[in-house]
Amino acid sequence: MRYLSGVHDFLQIEGMTRVELEYLLDATNMNIPHAEGRQPAKSTLDGKVVANVFFEDSTRTRCSFETAVHRLGGEVFTVSAAGSSASKGESLVDTALNIEAMGVAVMVVRCAISGGAAMVAKSLKIPVINAGDGRHEHPTQGLLDVATLREALGPLDGRRVAIVGDVANSRVARSTTKALCLLGTRVRLVGPPTLVSRTMQSLSAVPDQIEVSHDLDSALADVDAVIMLRIQLERAAGSAISSDYRVLYGLTQARIRRLPAHAVILHPGPMNRGVEIDDSVADDPGRSRILRQVTLGVASRMAVLERAAVG
Ligand code: CP
Repeated sequence: MRYLSGVHDFLQIEGMTRVELEYLLDATNMNIPHAEGRQPAKSTLDGKVVANVFFEDSTRTRCSFETAVHRLGGEVFTVSAAGSSASKGESLVDTALNIEAMGVAVMVVRCAISGGAAMVAKSLKIPVINAGDGRHEHPTQGLLDVATLREALGPLDGRRVAIVGDVANSRVARSTTKALCLLGTRVRLVGPPTLVSRTMQSLSAVPDQIEVSHDLDSALADVDAVIMLRIQLERAAGSAISSDYRVLYGLTQARIRRLPAHAVILHPGPMNRGVEIDDSVADDPGRSRILRQVTLGVASRMAVLERAAVG
């Protein structure tokens, strides 16, 4: 699997080394002033065109890739399933081959098929970036999540992070867990038995680096951060959750009081407010890093695009 070698695809966190991840984290940090507009756009992508091929809906990932290209001095266009010839039955790979033939430098792909981005990468000569493929991975979300946690907490070795909710259906959980494990963080996966199982401990090769818990109340007292996951109704998680989900697994104000004072809260978005997270928690200026994730999403996608386009 190509991820950061040869053609500079970025398809998954699986198989990356710690050195490669830290390279991207350091590049992310250097891009923050540009991502925030405090420094002028860079010229890394000068004269280059990036294609965003989004066959699943998106706000954060699509717009932040577009913003990242602008901040790197390049040009970008986005293709969605609706309004393209995908609606006439053209396949993802045929769509990608035709767009590559227009001379684009990098392709960003989001699709509902697990392994879909790798399938495109295998057919193309240009670098491909996975912007989320089915239940498989969402590697740039993993990168921006650990960038946000490093900014809030410092080095992540020995830290403990709870990832709570619909882990089974979450490509974010897979990428972020793998990224945290690469950096030496202990991960606690929390949720109902239908959505979190002990088999998920195999996401790390290090014994006991990943714990599984079905009891959120007892899982919060010793963590440095909580990443809440969205209940993914479009991936049929709705049938696997009970009507008392908020009571058992929602991050409420009462549960926040169980956290250490320094602990921060993340959520990849979009949030189901009042289900997995309460308004007062999501908007807590002291603990919530949810909008900071979005800002660092631009900086981290700049880093991945620079790596892809320039090497
Ligand atoms: N976090 C995330 O992937 O959000 P979008 O679906 O809006 O891109």
